[in-house]
Amino acid sequence: MPRILVPGGRGQLGRALAGLARGKAVTPGRGELDIADPRSIATALDRLAPEVVVNAAAYTDVDGAESDEEDATALNVDGPRALAAACRERGIRLIHISTDYVFSGEVPGGGDPATAPGLQPHDPTAPVTVYGRTKLAGERAVYEELPEATVIRTAWLYTGVWRVIENQPGSDFVATMIRLESERETLNVVNDQWGSPTYVSTFADQVLMLLAAEKAGRVDARGRTHHVTGGGRATWFDLARTVFQYLGADPERVRPCSSDEFPRPAPRPRFSVLADTWWGELGLAPMRDWRRDLFPGVSFLASQRE
Ligand SMILES: NC(=O)c1ccc[n+]([C@@H]2O[C@H](COP(=O)([O-])OP(=O)(O)OC[C@H]3O[C@@H](n4cnc5c(N)ncnc54)[C@H](OP(=O)(O)O)[C@@H]3O)[C@@H](O)[C@H]2O)c1
Repeated sequence: MPRILVPGGRGQLGRALAGLARGKAVTPGRGELDIADPRSIATALDRLAPEVVVNAAAYTDVDGAESDEEDATALNVDGPRALAAACRERGIRLIHISTDYVFSGEVPGGGDPATAPGLQPHDPTAPVTVYGRTKLAGERAVYEELPEATVIRTAWLYTGVWRVIENQPGSDFVATMIRLESERETLNVVNDQWGSPTYVSTFADQVLMLLAAEKAGRVDARGRTHHVTGGGRATWFDLARTVFQYLGADPERVRPCSSDEFPRPAPRPRFSVLADTWWGELGLAPMRDWRRDLFPGVSFLASQRE
């Protein structure tokens, strides 16, 4: 495993990378490495001399970005550009993390989201939110500064049970469903948005697997964008019901509803299913079905409650 520096190291992905990289990853918070400040980037890279930077820092408040484009641009575009330039100057490998929000959120050609093929890395982008537009501009800025960088897009990340058990800051959909199961008799969850639930530790493991394979000279993913998410697909309603089921609660307490019932400042994508035939061509195993990642944690929590 190479020596890794993870800006945004106290966020959801940063924590997962820190837990898995076994001392090989340095995961500073914003106070120690501020990607909006080129001097902070230069100081960190010179002091820590990593072989690889995995950029997990971002402006991730999708709704907040709609009224805060300036800060979203500073973090999602200018910061990654400065990071890529600093990596280029020092010969450091850069993996930059991005999102399904770079796509329009609709099925290309208007097909059925339950069965339409997943979006490939080379499919046309067309973001409709400030978050999505800034993340796409950030991808482009990274490649402009460092064409050998790699962008990895993911979607529907969750920490879930472990965020609840370890009392980690922030929230995610699975952690929220676990909390609501004990607070509400019934809840309505949208059943018209499709994606692939992605357990953050398994995603982090995929990133580390790529880096280990590159270090061993087995693969070379430089200069290419990849998609990495959990296998299979679901609606948020499917995911919520499955959480209830694995908790031993009655899944019927979760009721389906439409996105129109939950208007948000930033429209949520109806179709976020990502696919990547290139990942397999690299010889890297894709993530397993999302249920297999969800089950161990949630059933463990259920057993603790008995
Ligand atoms: N969560 C998802 O469902 C999802 C889906 C698709 C893609 N992604 C992408 O995955 C990546 C990681 O997301 P995540 O879920 O781990 O997000 P997260 O938990 O919000 O973590 C982002 C981290 O970036 C830090 N940060 C903010 N401004 C910074 C700055 N100026 N300098 C350095 N760090 C700064 C934040 O620190 P503070 O807490 O101090 O602000 C936070 O710890 C992002 O690129 C995101 O776009 C996430």
